[in-house]
Amino acid sequence: MSVRIGFIGVGGIAQSHLSGLLTLPEAEIVALCDISRQQVEKAVERFNKEAVGKEPAGRKLEAAIYDDYRQMLRREKLEAVFICLPPFVHGEVEEAVIEASLPFLVEKPVALSLSLAGKILDGVLKKELITTVGYQLRCGSFMDKARAALAGKTVAAIVANRFGRTPGVSWYHRQDKSGGQLVEQATHQVDMLRYLVGEVDTVYAAAATRINNKDNPEYDIFDSNCMTMTFACGAVGNFGNGTMAHVGVPPGLNGVHIFGDNVQVTIGGNLRIATPDGVTEEPLDKDMMVRQDSAFLKAVAENDPTLIRSDYLSGVRTLAVTLAGEKSARTGQPVKVADLLAAEAPAAL
Ligand SMILES: NC(=O)c1ccc[n+]([C@@H]2O[C@H](COP(=O)([O-])OP(=O)(O)OC[C@H]3O[C@@H](n4cnc5c(N)ncnc54)[C@H](O)[C@@H]3O)[C@@H](O)[C@H]2O)c1
Repeated sequence: MSVRIGFIGVGGIAQSHLSGLLTLPEAEIVALCDISRQQVEKAVERFNKEAVGKEPAGRKLEAAIYDDYRQMLRREKLEAVFICLPPFVHGEVEEAVIEASLPFLVEKPVALSLSLAGKILDGVLKKELITTVGYQLRCGSFMDKARAALAGKTVAAIVANRFGRTPGVSWYHRQDKSGGQLVEQATHQVDMLRYLVGEVDTVYAAAATRINNKDNPEYDIFDSNCMTMTFACGAVGNFGNGTMAHVGVPPGLNGVHIFGDNVQVTIGGNLRIATPDGVTEEPLDKDMMVRQDSAFLKAVAENDPTLIRSDYLSGVRTLAVTLAGEKSARTGQPVKVADLLAAEAPAAL
C-alpha cells in the first residue's frame, strides 16, 4: 500500500509533515507546490543533505516542484493532498482539490469564516472524501489514556490555558490573516476539550490587546483572551490564552485540566491522571503527527474513514467554538455555538 501525495504550501508545518512522511514507506511524496519555488528547492536540498547516511529512515525527497497548484493537480496522478497554507489562503485550493475528487489533510484552522468552511464541507460530504484536519493531539497515546480515564465519569469543571509569544510567521499578528490566537493556535486546546469532554454549548469571552501592539501598530489580534464555556454535558470551563507572555509562563500553567467525579486529568507538559487509587504521570508521546499522517494514508488506501480522528466536519465544529469566542469578545454577549453553525455551516450541526 502506498499513497501518491502532493503538497500545497511548503512552509513550516509542511516541512514537519514531510520529515515524518519520509520515515513512512507508504508515503510516496510525488509533488510539492508553493508560491515560493525557491523555498521548496531549499527545503528539498536540506532534507536530502540530512538523509545522507540515514537510510532507510531518512530517505531522499524526490518530488516534482510546482508554483501553481492547478498545474500540479492537472499533471500529477495524485491520491491525496496535504494542504498546509496560512489561514487566509483557504477556499479556492480546497475547491480545486474537491473538484479533482482527492482526499486531503488540511492544517488547522480550516478557514477564517464558517460560511467558507461550510461551503467546503458541503463539497467534501457530497463527494464522500476522506479528510483529516491537523489536530494531531488527538492521535497521541496519552489521549487514549485520558479518554479511558474519563469514560463514563461525570465531568464538572475544566480549566485550560495556553500562554506564550506570537509565532514567528509574517501573517500571524494580523486579524484578517490569522483570525487571532484563539482561532489560530489556541484552537488545539479547544479541539482537545471537544474530544475529551464533548461539544461546547455556549461561550462568553473577554479579550484585549494591551502589550504586543505597543511597538507594532499593525498588531491587531487580541494578545489576551479569557473564555468561559458551557458544555453540552453540563460541565463548565474557563480557557485563558494569550501571546503576550514574553518573560515565560509559570510551570504547570499551560494545558487542559479536567475535574470529574473521582478523577482529575491534566494534559500539559505531561499526562497526569489522579484517581482514588493514586496518581500516574507520564510524558506525552512525540510522534503524534506521524501517527495522524499514517492513519490518514491508511484511511485513504483502504477507503476507511473510521480511521480518522479529526475529519473536516469536526474541524468546522472546532472553528465554530473559536469564532464564537471571538464574536463574544467583540460584542460582549454570550454566543451559542449551534446558532453560528445553523446560520453558516448547517451541515456541521
Ligand atoms: N498542527 C500544528 O501543530 C501546526 C503547527 C504550525 C502551523 N500549523 C498550521 O499550518 C498552517 C500553515 O502554517 P505555517 O507555519 O506552515 O505557515 P508558513 O507561512 O510557514 O507556510 C505557508 C506556506 O504556504 C505558501 N503559500 C501561500 N499561498 C499559497 C498558494 N496559493 N499556493 C501555494 N503555496 C502557498 C507560503 O509561501 C508558505 O510557504 C497554518 O494554518 C497553521 O496554523 C499547524
